[in-house]
Amino acid sequence: MAILFDSKAKTFTLQTKKSTYQMKIDEQGVLLHTYFGAGTDESDYSYLIVPDDHGFCAQPSEHGGNRNYSLDFYPQEYSVHGNGDFRIKALRAGLEGRVPALDLRYGGYEISDGKYALPGLPAFFAGKEEKVHTLRIVLKDLYEEVYVTLFYGVFEEKDIITRAAVIQNRSNVPLRLKRAMSMSLDFPEGMDAFICFHGKHAGERQFDRRTLHSGVTEIGSNRGTSSHQQNPFAILCGKDTTEEFGSCCGLSLLYSGSFQIQAEVDQFEGVRVTCGIHDEEFEWILNKDEEFVTPEAVLSYTDQGLGDLTRTMQRAMSENLIRSPWKNKKRPVLVNNWEATYFDFTGKKLLQIAQQAARIGLDMLVLDDGWFGKRDDDNSGLGDWYVNEEKLGCTLRELVEQVNEMGLQFGIWIEPEMVSENSDLYREHPDWAMTIPGRDPVRGRNQLTLDLSRREVIEYMKASIDQLLGMANIAYIKWDMNRSVDNVFSSAAPYLSQGAVRHKYILGLYEVMEYILSRYPDLLIEGCSGGGGRYDAGMLYYVPQIWCSDNTDAIERLRIHYGTSFGYPMSTVAAHVSVCPNHQNGRVTPFQTRGICAMQGAFGYELDLDKLSEEEIRQAKEQVEFYNMHYELFQKGDYYRLSSPFEHHDFTAWSYVMPDGSKASLSVVYTDLHGNPKPQRIKWRGLIPDAVYELDGQEYTGAALMRGGCILPKPRENYDSWMAVIERKAKRNR
Ligand code: DGJ
Repeated sequence: MAILFDSKAKTFTLQTKKSTYQMKIDEQGVLLHTYFGAGTDESDYSYLIVPDDHGFCAQPSEHGGNRNYSLDFYPQEYSVHGNGDFRIKALRAGLEGRVPALDLRYGGYEISDGKYALPGLPAFFAGKEEKVHTLRIVLKDLYEEVYVTLFYGVFEEKDIITRAAVIQNRSNVPLRLKRAMSMSLDFPEGMDAFICFHGKHAGERQFDRRTLHSGVTEIGSNRGTSSHQQNPFAILCGKDTTEEFGSCCGLSLLYSGSFQIQAEVDQFEGVRVTCGIHDEEFEWILNKDEEFVTPEAVLSYTDQGLGDLTRTMQRAMSENLIRSPWKNKKRPVLVNNWEATYFDFTGKKLLQIAQQAARIGLDMLVLDDGWFGKRDDDNSGLGDWYVNEEKLGCTLRELVEQVNEMGLQFGIWIEPEMVSENSDLYREHPDWAMTIPGRDPVRGRNQLTLDLSRREVIEYMKASIDQLLGMANIAYIKWDMNRSVDNVFSSAAPYLSQGAVRHKYILGLYEVMEYILSRYPDLLIEGCSGGGGRYDAGMLYYVPQIWCSDNTDAIERLRIHYGTSFGYPMSTVAAHVSVCPNHQNGRVTPFQTRGICAMQGAFGYELDLDKLSEEEIRQAKEQVEFYNMHYELFQKGDYYRLSSPFEHHDFTAWSYVMPDGSKASLSVVYTDLHGNPKPQRIKWRGLIPDAVYELDGQEYTGAALMRGGCILPKPRENYDSWMAVIERKAKRNR
């Protein structure tokens, strides 16, 4: 059994294949956290807690005489404000007009088969016939009718433990939540480093590894999205942990709004990590019998390095988080017209691009921004989701029919969460936009954010989508969102409830997403927020792929894809071949290299195909054929980072290996050139040691390729690249 309650020791032990997680109810009913690490037995690990009389460490009331016990240094499962613990807390709440403090004690448990779900929020689910178990532990305030239920989902085979908390007020006095994290977790030692993925627009998820020092290390977003600047995925690891060795714990928050992850090194060098909804601007009032559900946090521990952690997370997200049926289907190789035309297109131009796309063998044309309302630049039109037939020269249905006749599917861009002040929608419903009364609003990209905390806005959004999808044969939508959300104020909510608006917005967004997914199950949805500004596990519950970045330069994408790979499956990374000089940074790279980089994820093109040379068309055809032949490897293969673009200056390399070792690819992009260069070697990973593979007409054992490695061809020009696919041979020829 993956969850064991030892009634004598009062321990809960959660077992996965490689890890063990343990909690213990102590004599006072406090739920202590006693272990999370490499798989071990169900011994009571509370012997590792050392009671001592540490100065300035307070005692809860019943410990008045025993100064060796203090919640200021005892590891706890869900830390709360107000019981003598001065570290970062999971929960800060209080009954209105009374002391803003809680003291949670054990109140019962339940173990059940299957995985719990969270109403209105994304959550991991059990696969068909997969054995997953749920543990619920109830905590109750020592004085008041306030309850917290801790939820645990144990995916034994997948090495995943999920957590969430539900806070319930059963008292007659309103309970004000000021901070309600999804979890807190205490490590007494061994987690010396923190890895996070920071960035900016057009430069998301850059790998950042920091040594933890005393005090609080914090990342987060207060932008209303998970953001380009930080990502709700982080890793705690040992100081010596590498790609292949050492202990690490991955932490992913299934949330697409403002979030916070904090890691505190306390006075005795233990580390506490918390994660959840950002507490800035957050306030939630629970009246009698109401409850608050936190987003889910997903944990995985391994002592086999960052690569192993990545593959565990990627596999679990592919199988237990993404629901779209597209996760297992071959994604259409598409051309998107954004970098080809921006706002300056006609129906005729689109059809020319489509014609070339058909010639190259692509599957889909995606019409990006500018097809609706009055939208010839990014200052107007958002909210008016009716087709600009004058610009297209025909109806949308007619355009789509012509595209379909060429053998291509059709996809379209929308940005439903936004409104331009210069739009019919805004003129009709100015109060649907979030602005602070009596103040000129803060604008982003000259647009305002619709108030998705309001029922009528949610319903309007669903209706606009229905209307759009009813207009023509649309197989795909790209759901964009192009600003950081500020001036959060809902004119429909009382002044004192404004602290709930940010979270209600996200619940509204999830409701619309759920509606689309259930009503149009075959629709392929690509998430986007100015590229990867909302690249999080919460979104992946609704969409199987996300436009990874507005930066399409192949070389900058090496770093962006590298960072993204730690937390997310590569099949979710939408990546396109674009024109050179690149529109974001002016760099020139070979067409082949752009193709190899884009094939790391959901592959496509984003340039004016009509302007390609015959040689480029030949290469594009070859790329598409190659991708179509091997897409299963890229979509389902295990991903190996072979060299880091942040550490290795000469080249970046990665590999996909089918889980049964039958087929593998290796991709290399050279990032520097040298006169009189040394031979470059690389070691494959994940192959079957005694299997035989053929590479460039020569046979090698898996062991040879992994331990001896192979020699890379010499680069011929700046940013040259190389890619090989090898297959396991039935037997050796000699
Ligand atoms: C931002 C997206 O990331 C781009 O790909 C493009 O769709 C533009 N928005 C359109 O406004």
